[in-house]
Amino acid sequence: MDSLSVCGNGPLKGQTFASGSKNAALPLLASALLAEGTHHFENVPRLADIRTMLKLLRHIGLETSMEHNAHPSSCTLHNPGKANPEAPYELVKTMRASVLVLGPLLAKYGKAKVSLPGGCAIGARPIDLHLKALSAMGAHISLSGGYVEATAQRLHGADFRFDTISVTGTENLLMAASLAKGTTRIRNAAQEPEVAELVDVLKKMGAQIEWEKPNELVVEGVEALTPCQHTVCADRIEAGTLLVAAAITGGDVFVQNAQAAHLGAVIEKLREAGCEISQEHKNGPGLRLVAPPHIRPLQLQTQEYPGFPTDMQAQFMALLSIADGDSEIAENIFENRYMHVAELCRMGAHIHVSGTHALIHGVSKLSGAPVMATDLRASASLVLAALRAEGTTTISRVYHLDRGYEQLEEKLSHLGAKVERLHG
Ligand code: EPZ
Repeated sequence: MDSLSVCGNGPLKGQTFASGSKNAALPLLASALLAEGTHHFENVPRLADIRTMLKLLRHIGLETSMEHNAHPSSCTLHNPGKANPEAPYELVKTMRASVLVLGPLLAKYGKAKVSLPGGCAIGARPIDLHLKALSAMGAHISLSGGYVEATAQRLHGADFRFDTISVTGTENLLMAASLAKGTTRIRNAAQEPEVAELVDVLKKMGAQIEWEKPNELVVEGVEALTPCQHTVCADRIEAGTLLVAAAITGGDVFVQNAQAAHLGAVIEKLREAGCEISQEHKNGPGLRLVAPPHIRPLQLQTQEYPGFPTDMQAQFMALLSIADGDSEIAENIFENRYMHVAELCRMGAHIHVSGTHALIHGVSKLSGAPVMATDLRASASLVLAALRAEGTTTISRVYHLDRGYEQLEEKLSHLGAKVERLHG
């Protein structure tokens, strides 16, 4: 297992870029199950999770190819119109987003056998809402041997309200409803930009979908969809992570492709912490962050979009660990998303967790130490803390990082960081 060695090396300076969005690309790749023919996606990030989704789609019967040499990379999927509608545990256990094939398989082929994802480091992460939604559309769902077995003659429209807002739950229901018979209304829908991008692509494929309210979608099912070409948007969480890297090191960094429209709550908190953020244009539009000499403490709580994203919580925890004073974080989305706290404390942070709240007493310095990554955003948090820490930090189990960050060590090194991957 690889690890990263990071040596605190002062402020990051220069320009970098955000790659294609992991959480946009995953549902888009799954949507290829809905239409026979050849689908083409540009700006698909080279990530472990993307490779896992492509492996799963090949297992189901799609032909996939990834153009690695081109930068950014692109992906072509050919759907021959027949499928082995199964998502095996060996694949699903490594990536929960595999559940995104459930809706499309049911809608296109009338059956699906998908392994239950099992929990992960940040929480139980059930899929009960996905199943409740598909049942409302006429699917017959049974659980057996750790698998969901679902069948449907043809899904029919439904008026469904999510008790809890669910990003992939909304995405699964959108894809299923696109080929169902009749009208589906999705209430309390997730509003993340990745959901909006899936709506746009499904409409390109011929789906009839409208946003009736900011959190309500209406889908008129059609008989068939056709494949399309699409360029995946930039990863807003990677962009946010790179901006925090500038903030925590007292730097001055331009992140190309960072979109202010998708980062409102994050920009607001970075400004509250004392950072100057401006929209600039170098080779393309992006955001520039100039860090203050001292980070101001703040309160934040994670919420569904457009609130502060839970996927930026760990990164801000690292930033606030060196703030001038006491901060408080409330994690309202996942029940166990503080796995990074113990590791940050090993680097000298003063953080106390009580339930879903974390109290962070800012310290003047962090010290390099051997630490262990536990989940994707926790590993990003440790990298950020290591960039600020005095001395060398070795971060083990960076396969977590590789799930969601493309070439992070190259991007950070280009900005002046001392980061080295140690092959284990
Ligand atoms: C998506 O996960 C993202 N993943 C996550 O990003 C992100 O953290 C999360 O949304 C919240 O924004 C992808 O888009 C591939 P949810 P998802 O369903 O859809 C509960 C990252 O770091 N819930 O919106 O799995 C659930 O337990 C990853 O890139 C149910 O109870 O999250 C959680 O508490 C991590 N039953 C809350 O809802 C369900 O059936 C929100 O989960 C579904 C969800």
